[in-house]
Amino acid sequence: MDHSEIDYTQLRFSDPPRARPYVVVNMVMSADGQTVVDGTERGLGSALDQRLMRELRVHFDVVMNGAATFRASGTSARLNDPALEHWRLERGLPPSPVAAVLTRSGNLPPQRRFFTDRSFEAIVYLSSAAPDGVREELESRGRPVLIVPEGEEASVALRHIQAELGARRVLVEGGASLNGELIRQGLVDEYFLTLAPRIAGGDASTAAFTWPGPPTRSGIKQLELIHALPAQSGELFLRYRLQRAAPAD
Ligand SMILES: NC(=O)c1ccc[n+]([C@@H]2O[C@H](COP(=O)([O-])OP(=O)(O)OC[C@H]3O[C@@H](n4cnc5c(N)ncnc54)[C@H](OP(=O)(O)O)[C@@H]3O)[C@@H](O)[C@H]2O)c1
Repeated sequence: MDHSEIDYTQLRFSDPPRARPYVVVNMVMSADGQTVVDGTERGLGSALDQRLMRELRVHFDVVMNGAATFRASGTSARLNDPALEHWRLERGLPPSPVAAVLTRSGNLPPQRRFFTDRSFEAIVYLSSAAPDGVREELESRGRPVLIVPEGEEASVALRHIQAELGARRVLVEGGASLNGELIRQGLVDEYFLTLAPRIAGGDASTAAFTWPGPPTRSGIKQLELIHALPAQSGELFLRYRLQRAAPAD
């Protein structure tokens, strides 16, 4: 398939469930299953992957990251493309989604665009387990900080996003531990995966979804393929829906 034939602005999504927004995870991975190279995702995806990542964002009210991704790569919901911003404005949406980050430590470098660029809205979800004074320090940087109860941070953040920000869809752009936590709690509806034609190797395993303990058969989440789009870049653009029923043995 020619690059120009893949256009993620044309995608359609189901309605959100009643009690939370519709949640979609998007990741890029090497053909040997690595999502981190030299500490970030950079070098895995092509220019086409970057374009499709931005096109996917147009459908979402909020783009969310875990704090380790924030520290490694930054968290920004910008589209970096006037045509895509126009696409949203025409549909009565703000030019960029809201950027959201989830953190327990509150260790979020202040020089990141999230704090310095006011062209998009942003919110910090801070665990109630955070050390004293962290909330005040983060608030002093001019972004709202919402305390979310320890152990329920992700689900409470999603409920807040739906109820208070009026969001229908959340795009989670990693990393693996936030992805893993969400999928284990049944809070993921779809998974977009760019399979890059590259072997990253190394002796670290950086899967796209992680949680404590070894992988087990009982822990497997079953996916249903929605699309598989090969591109001339050698990438395969995959879209899955999470199956709700228990998998067969
Ligand atoms: N290939 C890709 O598509 C892709 C995409 C995104 C990221 N990445 C890479 O993935 C790496 C980071 O992934 P990661 O798995 O190490 O980390 P991550 O999921 O990005 O972030 C984990 C951190 O998020 C916070 N967090 C997660 N769940 C939370 C909860 N329930 N309540 C409060 N805070 C919570 C905690 O922050 P604190 O530590 O602050 O407490 C936790 O340490 C980076 O190297 C990044 O570049 C790759």
